[in-house]
Amino acid sequence: MTTSYFNGKADVWDEQVAEKDPARLQRMADNLDIQPGSTVLDVGTGTGVFVPFLLRKITPQGKLVCLDYAERMIEKARSKRFEGQIDYVCSDIHTTDFRAGAFDAVVCYSSFPHFQDKLKAFKEMRRILKKGGKLFICHTSSRAVINGIHQNIPEVSHDLIPEKDEMLSLLSSAGFKNIELRDEVSSYFVRADRT
Ligand SMILES: C[S@@+](CC[C@H](N)C(=O)[O-])C[C@H]1O[C@@H](n2cnc3c(N)ncnc32)[C@H](O)[C@@H]1O
Repeated sequence: MTTSYFNGKADVWDEQVAEKDPARLQRMADNLDIQPGSTVLDVGTGTGVFVPFLLRKITPQGKLVCLDYAERMIEKARSKRFEGQIDYVCSDIHTTDFRAGAFDAVVCYSSFPHFQDKLKAFKEMRRILKKGGKLFICHTSSRAVINGIHQNIPEVSHDLIPEKDEMLSLLSSAGFKNIELRDEVSSYFVRADRT
C-alpha cells in the first residue's frame, strides 16, 4: 500500500528524495498562473517542499490547503510552521470532503503519478474547483525521468505518468478544457481549465 510507503519515508524525505534546488522549484512556481489572494489546494503536499513557493504566489491574503493521505508526511509539513493561512488535511484526493467549487487552483506537484484511479481523481479535482479555476500537474523532471525512477522502486513501480494522448483523454473525460501539456527535458507541466 503506497500510504505506508510514504509514511515510512516521511523522516528521510527532505534529505533523500525531495527536490532540493530552489531555482527549479521557483521556475516551476513561475509557470503557475495563480493570482494573489487565491485559495489553492496543494495535493500530495508531502513534507511541504512546494509550500513556500505557493505561499509566495497567493500572498498573505490567499489561503493554502495542504492535503496528503499519509499522516506522517502531513505532520512533517505542519511541523515546519509555515507562515500564512494554511489548513492541513489528511485525506485521499479521490474522495475529499471539500465543497464543490472551493478552490481557485488545484496543484499536484510531484504527486499525480501516485493517484491510483486517475480519472476519478481528475473528476474530484474538477468538482472542487471553481468555475474558471485551474488544475496544474507539475514535476521538475521529464515524464521519462519520473517514470524511470518509479519503475525502479517496487512500492511505486506502477505509479506512472501516462503518455500524452492518454493524459489528454483522461482530462477531457473529466470535463477539463483548454489543456496545455509540456513534457520537457527538465520539467513536466499540465494546465487545464475548469470551465
Ligand atoms: C512523491 S511525494 C511528493 C511530495 C511533495 N509534493 C514533494 O514534492 O516532496 C507524493 C505525495 O503524494 C501523496 N499522495 C499520493 N497519493 C495520494 C492520494 N491519493 N491522495 C493524497 N495524497 C496522495 C503521498 O503520500 C506523498 O506524500
